[in-house]
Order: sequence, then C-alpha cells, then structure tokens
Amino acid sequence: MLLVLRGRFVPASFGETGHYRADAVDVVAAQPLRYAGWQVCVECHDSEGAMKSRSFHRTVSCEVCHGPAAAHAEDVESQTPLIPRERGAECLSCHEYLSPRPTGFPQIIERLHNPLQACIGCHDPHDPTPPEVPESCSACHAQIARTKAVSHHLTLECETCHDARAEHRENPRSFLPRKPTAREFCGGCHSENADSPADIPRVDLRDHGERYLCWQCHYPHHPES
Ligand code: HEC
Ligand code: HEC
Ligand code: HEC
Ligand code: HEC
Ligand code: HEC
Ligand code: HEC
Ligand code: HEC
Ligand code: HEC
Repeated sequence: MLLVLRGRFVPASFGETGHYRADAVDVVAAQPLRYAGWQVCVECHDSEGAMKSRSFHRTVSCEVCHGPAAAHAEDVESQTPLIPRERGAECLSCHEYLSPRPTGFPQIIERLHNPLQACIGCHDPHDPTPPEVPESCSACHAQIARTKAVSHHLTLECETCHDARAEHRENPRSFLPRKPTAREFCGGCHSENADSPADIPRVDLRDHGERYLCWQCHYPHHPES
C-alpha cells in the first residue's frame, strides 16, 4: 500500500541524488538563459571591462545596469541591451542615502546632489570616480545654489560676490573664498547712484538700515524686501 502511494505522489527520480528530485536539473537547464554574466560581456567589450575592473564599480556586474542581456550576447545584431542614461533608479538603488547602509559606503541625498542633471553627466558609469576638481560650486554647496536659483538673485553668479580661487574647489578649507565685508559692496548695484541696470531696486545707503550690514536683514542668497 505504501509503495503504491509513493508511486502516485513521489516523483520517480526522487532520491537518486539524495533528498532531491534529480530531473529538476534538466528542467532548470531547459529554461532560456536571461543573464550571460560579465565574463561573457567582456569578451567583446574589453575596453568597458578593463575600465570597470580598475574602478570603484569593479564589483558591480554589467547586467545590474544593462539588464539581462544573454539574448544580446547570442545575437548582437538584433538584440540591444538597456542603456540607463536617465537620472534614476539604477544608480540610486545603491547610492541613495539609507541609514542601514554600511558606514563609509558612498551615499548621496538625491534631492540635494546636483538636482535634475543626469548622473552620467559627471560620473562615468564604468569608472565613477567623481571629477577630481568639481566644476560647479553647487556640487558641494547644493543647498545654497538651490536657494539662490529661486530667488531675486538668480541671475547673479556666485563669483559676483565671492572671489573663489580654483584651489578652493580642490582643497576647500585651506583656501576659503572671500565674502563681502561692507555695505558698499551691495550698494554697487543697489544704491541710488549706482551704475547698474535700471530695473534693479534702489535704496539710499545713508538712511536704509544704516547701522547694520545689509545681510543682517537680507539673506544674500535669497534677498527679500
Ligand atoms: C559577441 C560579442 C558581444 C558580446 C558577448 C556582448 N556584446 Fe554588447 N555589443 C556587441 C556589438 C558588436 C555591439 C554593437 C556595437 C556598436 O554598434 O557600436 C554591442 C553593443 C552593446 C551595447 C550598446 C548598445 C547600444 O544601443 O548602443 C551595450 C550596452 C552592450 N553591448 C552591452 C553588453 C553586455 C552587458 C553584454 C554581456 C551580457 C554584452 N554586451 C555582450 C558585441 C557583444
Ligand atoms: C553602474 C551601471 C553600469 C555598469 C555596471 C555597466 N554599465 Fe555600461 N553603460 C552604463 C551607462 C549609463 C551607459 C551610457 C553611457 C553614456 O551614454 O555616456 C553605458 C554604456 C555602455 C556601452 C555603450 C558605449 C557607448 O558609448 O556607446 C557599452 C558597450 C557598455 N556600457 C558595456 C558595459 C559592459 C560590458 C559592462 C560590464 C563590464 C558595463 N557596461 C557595466 C551603465 C553601466
Ligand atoms: C549594484 C550597486 C551599484 C549601482 C547600481 C551603482 N553603484 Fe556606484 N558604487 C557601488 C559600489 C559597491 C561602489 C564602491 C564603494 C566602495 O568602494 O566603498 C560604488 C562607488 C561609486 C562612486 C565612487 C564614490 C567615491 O567614493 O568617490 C560613485 C561616484 C558612484 N558609485 C556613482 C554611481 C553612479 C553614477 C551609478 C549609476 C550610473 C552607480 N554608481 C550605480 C555600487 C553601485
Ligand atoms: C554636476 C555634476 C554631478 C552630477 C550631475 C552628479 N554628481 Fe555625484 N558627485 C559629483 C561631485 C563633484 C562629487 C564629489 C563631491 C561631493 O561629494 O559632492 C560627487 C560625489 C558623488 C558620490 C560620492 C559621495 C561620497 O560621499 O563619497 C556618489 C555616490 C555620487 N556622486 C553619485 C551620484 C549619483 C547617483 C548621481 C545622479 C543621481 C550623481 N552623483 C550626479 C558630481 C555630480
Ligand atoms: C569640493 C567642494 C567645494 C566646492 C566645489 C566649492 N566649495 Fe565652497 N566650501 C567648501 C567647504 C568644505 C567649505 C568650508 C565649509 C565650512 O567650513 O563649514 C566651503 C566654504 C565656502 C565659503 C565660506 C567661506 C567662509 O569664510 O565662511 C564660500 C563663500 C564658498 N565656499 C564659496 C564657494 C564658491 C563660490 C564656489 C564655486 C566657485 C565653491 N565654494 C565651490 C567646499 C566646496
Ligand atoms: C549677492 C551676493 C552673493 C551671491 C550672488 C552669493 N553669495 Fe554667498 N554670501 C554672500 C554674503 C554677503 C555672505 C555672508 C553672509 C553672512 O555672513 O551672514 C555669503 C556667505 C556664503 C557662505 C558661507 C555662509 C553660508 O551661508 O553658508 C557660503 C558657503 C556661500 N556664501 C556660498 C555661495 C555660493 C555657492 C553661491 C552661488 C550659488 C553664493 N554664495 C552666491 C553673498 C553672496
Ligand atoms: C551685481 C548686482 C547685484 C549685487 C552686487 C547685489 N544685488 Fe541684490 N539684486 C540684484 C538684482 C538683479 C535683483 C533683482 C531685481 C529684480 O527682481 O528685478 C536684486 C534684488 C535684491 C533685493 C530685492 C528683493 C525684492 O524683494 O525685490 C534685495 C533686498 C537685494 N537684492 C539685496 C542685496 C544685498 C543685501 C546685496 C549684497 C549682499 C545685494 N543685493 C547685492 C542685483 C545685485
Ligand atoms: C535693518 C534691516 C535692514 C538693513 C540693514 C538693510 N535693509 Fe534693505 N530692506 C529692509 C526692509 C525692511 C525692506 C523693505 C521695506 C523698505 O523698502 O524699506 C528693505 C528693502 C530693500 C530693497 C528693496 C527696495 C525696493 O524698492 O523694492 C533693497 C534693494 C534693499 N533693501 C537693499 C539693501 C541693501 C543693499 C542694504 C545694505 C546697504 C540693505 N538693504 C540693508 C531692511 C534692511
């Protein structure tokens, strides 16, 4: 009786290789391959492979970003892999700030880190080392740049008010830029007799908040009246 039931309910190959259905190996092997593995990719794409193997991304496999691409490896003419050029999930799934990530893992707060621009505009995905010398002030002063961008001072460059030497971007704390020190600096555009475009609002420096520096009342990166 027990043997009859076993014949009905237990697969024939069960037990051949221990507590396991031996036929499962063939069933799984018959499924189409979706991932080729990076070893296959670099046979043809040796330059991307070489670059990545020396970079911070050496442990990140090609198909993490390019999607399952076994079909492409089989037939390069008609099957093309994904190329995630947009700013988005591919990078952020690993790099968006999450407190449980290991200490020291490079993380960013997406909302504040160079908003709206594609990640690959500044980071090569195959060698993402940040540019040695960041081009823009906003790379490090994102909050100030974002504030200024929606203020009355949106058309002013940072350098209009801060004399920042190139060394500041390489070694920020050792070469601090200058900040305005006197009311006359703002007066250069805003005083009644200033030689500046006519649509800039004017004040009389002699009796407008005369006992204080201008930025004790107006935040220079978002001035309001
Ligand atoms: C047999 C050689 C071969 C293999 C293996 C191969 N590729 Fe390609 N791949 C090519 C060729 C050829 C092109 C087209 C190049 C071109 O037109 O510039 C290409 C193009 C690409 C492109 C660019 C597609 C586009 O739209 O511009 C990506 C991304 C890519 N391959 C990723 C991969 C990944 C990931 C793997 C591994 C899963 C892989 N390739 C495996 C030969 C190969
Ligand atoms: C971190 C994500 C990421 C990984 C990992 C990655 N790629 Fe890419 N790959 C990209 C992105 C994004 C682009 C588009 C770059 C651009 O347009 O400047 C790209 C572009 C390419 C291209 C097209 C190059 C061109 O300019 O037409 C090829 C080929 C390619 N990758 C192959 C590979 C191979 C092979 C690997 C593994 C050795 C790999 N990639 C690993 C994200 C990645
Ligand atoms: C599967 C996870 C994964 C994905 C997806 C990924 N990265 Fe990375 N990234 C890593 C790892 C791992 C490191 C190396 C961390 C380390 O060395 O401690 C790294 C390092 C970096 C670094 C270097 C940071 C430093 O310390 O200077 C930058 C920049 C970077 N990635 C940007 C990107 C960008 C841009 C993308 C999308 C195109 C991306 N990453 C996608 C895992 C990922
Ligand atoms: C305008 C250029 C620019 C853009 C766009 C940009 N980055 Fe960066 N990124 C930098 C610079 C410069 C640094 C180094 C200075 C810093 O930490 O801000 C950096 C640093 C990083 C780091 C390392 C942070 C750390 O603490 O070590 C990661 C990770 C990173 N970026 C990922 C990304 C991702 C993901 C995107 C897209 C969502 C992106 N970046 C968009 C310029 C850029
Ligand atoms: C690589 C990152 C980085 C870049 C790029 C950068 N800064 Fe800075 N900046 C810093 C750091 C770090 C400090 C010091 C902050 C502190 O001490 O709290 C700083 C401080 C400053 C200060 C304050 C000086 C003071 O005495 O309080 C000003 C002003 C400034 N930066 C302006 C700029 C301008 C303008 C640019 C673009 C030309 C720029 N920064 C680009 C990192 C950077
Ligand atoms: C209209 C002139 C003006 C412009 C434009 C301007 N700043 Fe400032 N900034 C100032 C003044 C004035 C101070 C000193 C404020 C104080 O001491 O309270 C200052 C202070 C700073 C500080 C140090 C104090 C703080 O708020 O963190 C940094 C950093 C800074 N600016 C960066 C920048 C960057 C980056 C830009 C461009 C995105 C910029 N500034 C554009 C006038 C300006
Ligand atoms: C290079 C010229 C220039 C300099 C220098 C300058 N500003 Fe301005 N400021 C402007 C312009 C342009 C506007 C916007 C006028 C408009 O909205 O049409 C403006 C607007 C303002 C406003 C009016 C905001 C409102 O609500 O209408 C205030 C307040 C102000 N700036 C304060 C300052 C202070 C404080 C400083 C010195 C830290 C300063 N500005 C330096 C050009 C300048
Ligand atoms: C004691 C605080 C205080 C100080 C200091 C101060 N302001 Fe003002 N400012 C105000 C107030 C309040 C207003 C709005 C009411 C008004 O127009 O008087 C204003 C308005 C303005 C306006 C807008 C005028 C208009 O017609 O829309 C400008 C431009 C301006 N200030 C520039 C400056 C400059 C430049 C300095 C430094 C020389 C400065 N302020 C110093 C408080 C101050």
